[in-house]
Amino acid sequence: MKLSKFQAPKGVSEYFPPDSIQFEYVRDVLLQNAKLAGYSLIELPVFEDTEVFTRGVGESTDVVSKEMYTFEDRGGRSITLRPEGTAGVMRAVIEHNLDKGQLPVKLFYSGAFFRAERPQAGRYRQFYQVGIEAIGYNDPEIDVEVIAVADNAFKALGLKQYTLNITSLGDAKSRDAHRKDLVKFISTLKLDEATSERAKLNPLRLFDDKREEIRSSMQNAPVLLEYLSQDSSTHFGKVKALLESLKINYQVNPRMVRGLDYYTGTTFEFDHPLLGAQSGIGGGGRYDGLMGSLGGADVSGIGFGLGIDRVLMACKAESSLPSSIEPLDLFIAPITDDAKSVSFKLLSELRKSGIRCDMAYGDRGLKGAMKAADKSGAIYALVIGDDEISSGKCELKTMSTGQVISSTLNTSDLISKLGTTK
Ligand code: HAM
Repeated sequence: MKLSKFQAPKGVSEYFPPDSIQFEYVRDVLLQNAKLAGYSLIELPVFEDTEVFTRGVGESTDVVSKEMYTFEDRGGRSITLRPEGTAGVMRAVIEHNLDKGQLPVKLFYSGAFFRAERPQAGRYRQFYQVGIEAIGYNDPEIDVEVIAVADNAFKALGLKQYTLNITSLGDAKSRDAHRKDLVKFISTLKLDEATSERAKLNPLRLFDDKREEIRSSMQNAPVLLEYLSQDSSTHFGKVKALLESLKINYQVNPRMVRGLDYYTGTTFEFDHPLLGAQSGIGGGGRYDGLMGSLGGADVSGIGFGLGIDRVLMACKAESSLPSSIEPLDLFIAPITDDAKSVSFKLLSELRKSGIRCDMAYGDRGLKGAMKAADKSGAIYALVIGDDEISSGKCELKTMSTGQVISSTLNTSDLISKLGTTK
């Protein structure tokens, strides 16, 4: 009996060669830009105590109320697959007293995140993010540093068409003043039970409602930006001036509401117009009460999460990636048994010297071996047969141009040829 084949669970993103080479390239450029700004790796579990997210992210959010993968583990504990990174990072910072040392604590992470959303192009149930968090100071310079890390990374990927929306949710004083008027305004609207329950938990959520009737009834709602305290307004003014000083284009969008409840102060979203409905390629903001709500000290922080899947889609839409991201420097095509053992030894020595190389395995003729060289995506190909072995001479073929470079089969000669011609 033939067994039926398995399929990946619905709505997950998967990457395999050759596409995974582009995915890896995008992720590495995002990470590189975090490292350039002094962020260090934090590696965390993909599951946490459910309460880390219910308390951290907030009950009014779709993420907590509808999208979490929650289950009971064998010890009867409620566990949730991480739907986002920030709450888990804060849990670790508190648990390991990272905030008691030198501030700010600057951390980066990347990996899989899980949200039980309705799958569609660019929206997955398992997706990938690169994130950074800067914990310790409520400083406009840090806000702009975080935004600039994302902006530099997008530029390094060759993206041109993305937009940046920013706003400020102000300090507690600003939010209290706004909330009073917003709640009063919302009480004049006719809402169904679920929506008014949601509004009770976080009235800002109504700005984020996708339904046309709610959107239009919120047209005249008071916006937080008009309630900023003097301090918050000064802070936001500095953020805008610093963005301008770095020539980072932005739009102020006072109605922007992020999908997670922990935000305070500066918040931002990067969108890409060629991605359709799921246009958010990254977003973040300040979260001054989050550490406190998870049982830690009241330490301020700001960060972002960039969706690697969507950034890759944006790069493809703009054709911004390098035309070839070569996974290998050299592919060797041996055409006799003797050549196979010579090549095998050569590979091992070249790899020890940091040359990325591979060879054709199995019994292949010249044609088959060259086809494998072509498919490998290597920068150079090297055919080794009896003539090369007896003369000790060989030719490195540049795969993109067909240009040929003479070398000997001597390892250091090959290394220097590969090193200088790359
Ligand atoms: P977020 O806006 O929920 O923020 O997610 C960040 C990015 O992850 C989004 O802009 C999007 O590119 C990507 N993303 C989210 N959900 C999906 C999905 N279902 N499929 C594909 N991509 C998705 C956060 O997660 C915050 N933790 C960011 C942050 C860090 N704020 C402060 N620090």
